[in-house]
Amino acid sequence: MKIVNRIDELRTMLTEEKANGKTIGFVPTMGYLHEGHLSLIHEARKENGIVVISIFVNPLQFGPDEDFDQYPRNIERDEALAREAGADYLFYPTVAEMYGERPTVTVKVHERTDCLCGKSRPGHFDGVATVLTKLFNIIGPARAYFGLKDAQQVAIVEGLIHDFNFPIELVGVEIKREEDGLALSSRNVNLTSDERAEAVHISRCLFKIKEAIDSGMTPEAAIAEGRGYLHSHTAGTIDYLEALSYPELKPITDVREAIIVAAAVQYSKVRLIDNVIIKTEQPRG
Ligand code: PAF
Repeated sequence: MKIVNRIDELRTMLTEEKANGKTIGFVPTMGYLHEGHLSLIHEARKENGIVVISIFVNPLQFGPDEDFDQYPRNIERDEALAREAGADYLFYPTVAEMYGERPTVTVKVHERTDCLCGKSRPGHFDGVATVLTKLFNIIGPARAYFGLKDAQQVAIVEGLIHDFNFPIELVGVEIKREEDGLALSSRNVNLTSDERAEAVHISRCLFKIKEAIDSGMTPEAAIAEGRGYLHSHTAGTIDYLEALSYPELKPITDVREAIIVAAAVQYSKVRLIDNVIIKTEQPRG
């Protein structure tokens, strides 16, 4: 696995790979890799000649009071994991390499940002769209792999790829969970042990809501029950617990549409998110 810090160097290397007929599978990450990221590399490995992973904690997608400084980082560990998982290139640029002194042009996302994480993290998805636009242009992948834990991100990236005509296939990969159901996240290491014990109830709550909706309860009633459950099982602050259509992220109007039930809970140092997507072929209820 080659480790590259410079944009021009990576471009030259990947241009040569493409000239040799290799397709590129791209896994964008912010590092502190876990099984979820490794599953993205494994998927990319199956479908592409070359796998590129980027590790870049993107300052543009963090608000002033968010955890940019506390975001976990360990490049030596990440290098070993990425290599073992089968990546060919690790792109690990500095902030200066990506943005110079400061960006002079950024991307603004207009749809699907007025709910869930977009609502609580103003500007977050503009930062995500800006860095991905740069990374897509630098790397030129045929396919890009994203974890469905960030389902709103996946929906927004679909819009970015469509609207900016990137010739990229977006591949959404299922959420990886701990044995007790907690969704894997790089941020989990910043939970206290009490918070870690409580955090299991986020996924339990989502699965209870899914079960209730699957057996005919209205999403509103199921969410109300779920909220009661979460309140009584965790001291974390519920940022949101919502059911919306997916991938549109609009209020649910048609019982046949796919639904996302998503939650965000704020703990002392960490805000955790999780979701379940309920796909229906037949009307519910
Ligand atoms: O999902 C993430 O880790 C980040 O939002 C991404 C896609 C790497 C962009 O910085």
